[in-house]
Amino acid sequence: MSEQTLSQIAKAMVANGKGILAADESSGNIKKKFEKLGVEDMSENHRRYRELLFTAPGMEKYISGVILFDETIRQATSDGLPFAQYLSSKGVVPGIKVDIGLKDMDGHVGEQVTKWDDTLDARLKEYYALGARFAKWRVVINIGAGIPSDECIETNCKTLTEYARLCQANGIVPIVEPEVLMDGDHTIDRCYEVTHKTLSTLFSELKKANVDLSGLILKPNMVVYSSNGEKVSADIVAQKTLQCFKETVPAEVPGIVFLSGGQSEPESCVNLNAINKLAKEQNSPWKLTFSYGRALQNSALKNWSGKEENKIKSQEIFAHRAQLASAASLGEYKIEME
Ligand code: 13P
Repeated sequence: MSEQTLSQIAKAMVANGKGILAADESSGNIKKKFEKLGVEDMSENHRRYRELLFTAPGMEKYISGVILFDETIRQATSDGLPFAQYLSSKGVVPGIKVDIGLKDMDGHVGEQVTKWDDTLDARLKEYYALGARFAKWRVVINIGAGIPSDECIETNCKTLTEYARLCQANGIVPIVEPEVLMDGDHTIDRCYEVTHKTLSTLFSELKKANVDLSGLILKPNMVVYSSNGEKVSADIVAQKTLQCFKETVPAEVPGIVFLSGGQSEPESCVNLNAINKLAKEQNSPWKLTFSYGRALQNSALKNWSGKEENKIKSQEIFAHRAQLASAASLGEYKIEME
């Protein structure tokens, strides 16, 4: 098969009715999740859990791509087929998380930057050889008293841009993920303001660096209420989210895939559905779908709890969540489908 262009891969990642499974929990993150459920934190258990998700019958109807972690892209199914090859054989694009996490920002209390890594170019080449066709780099913007600072937003957007440039030079589609966190008690208007500033800074940097926007996917937060703030309706979330994107995200970007960011499983579907209904009315230029971690996995992981006898039921739970998120990506989700 001939090599696909960046723009063809990006389009496949946001194919109609499909979205991305974020299964790239870092070693520290999966350890916490497993310990909570009493599952031993060992590489073989990580592999068994990921295999459960990837081999869930029918998942490929709703999932276009999977973000893997470094450990996972080196692992295989019980039959010995490397996960990346297994996913590709089902028409699911394998991707890889390449950022190496956050660190406190010098001189900026409460703010963090994503660590830069000089081996990134070499790692991208290796991941490509292992089958990855897209990557993910996450930066985090905290909202609080007096933060975020302009410097924090700028520093993070610059590393995202340098990462995106290196990905494209290596034939890999970059998912750029600037996550404005839900943590805190700020209003949705404050989320709007910070998301707006972050996205306009990001796209101005990407353009300056000549990153090909048709071969890139944006993974943002929704413009949403905070975890301890007052909740607002999905219609308001949709209005504010699309208004913010209209002013900041160029139409050449083929797709926007949301992170769930702490929203519950149903909430993440209700809000995505409202966004897609309104986007249809407004003729928005981008595909708007999901790249959820927690909102696709929480119930399935809990049900599994490391026990082989729970595997089939957990696969059904995961496939059902993927089906509901898919419906929401088409504006066809209804709460009765839960
Ligand atoms: P959540 O959907 O759990 O926020 O995770 C998505 C993700 O990939 C964060 O980087």
